[in-house]
Amino acid sequence: MKLQDNIASEFNEFSKNYTDDMVKCVPYYLQLLSQFTLDIPTDFHPKRILDLGCGNGNVTSKLLEKFPEAHYTLLDASDQMLELCKSYFGLENKSYVQTYFQDYEFKNNHFDMVVAGFSLHHCHAKDKQFIFRQINKALSPNGVFSYSDLMVNRKAKEHQSLLENWNKFVVADPSHKETWDWIMDHYKTYDHPDSLDEQLKWLKEAHFINFKISIYDKHWVHLKAFKNQN
Ligand SMILES: C[S@@+](CC[C@H](N)C(=O)[O-])C[C@H]1O[C@@H](n2cnc3c(N)ncnc32)[C@H](O)[C@@H]1O
Repeated sequence: MKLQDNIASEFNEFSKNYTDDMVKCVPYYLQLLSQFTLDIPTDFHPKRILDLGCGNGNVTSKLLEKFPEAHYTLLDASDQMLELCKSYFGLENKSYVQTYFQDYEFKNNHFDMVVAGFSLHHCHAKDKQFIFRQINKALSPNGVFSYSDLMVNRKAKEHQSLLENWNKFVVADPSHKETWDWIMDHYKTYDHPDSLDEQLKWLKEAHFINFKISIYDKHWVHLKAFKNQN
């Protein structure tokens, strides 16, 4: 697959065979998707959910199993990803927004749950910090921010072992050698992961108070951050 000029076109291209490609390229992809519906308090019944970087809608699909009555806002920079979502989910109880996270006007106290599957690592550190504050503001009291992502500091020593394990995962099937080369080009151009510790610090600065964390192989993480009551 050829690298595209910007993140929206990159994912327009990626949309064609998305779930199969993610399973091939991202270790623990399906396990990390499953985490979105786990560890949720039994009395939590979100009315409004925002899916940031919805892609083809895999996170929303999971949540629909648990929260079929909620209203979903699906947001992505890629028009073709949003078109896929529209064709799967239709318009009932759904809104679709094509924009960058950085440009979205988050309304105060509007969502009970904000989710992001493998999308925030596309943002630089400063943007993540800004978006975490926006998400906290947009959540209702007791709201939950739930996200799965790659978390690592590229300058840390452990970055090399992440790449080695990731490579073993992808080329376990030798016909995926070219896929690995594409992943590394994409990773250099479009991915800006930060470590779990850094992100926890920024989430606390954004006034999140409690956290539930699941970690696979040190760097593939699902994190839930809870907002306080007022
Ligand atoms: C790797 S895909 C993840 C899709 C899906 N959430 C999942 O879990 O499989 C990342 C998605 O985030 C979108 N994205 C990345 N950076 C974005 C940004 N700054 N603003 C809006 N969408 C963005 C991309 O267009 C892409 O559809």
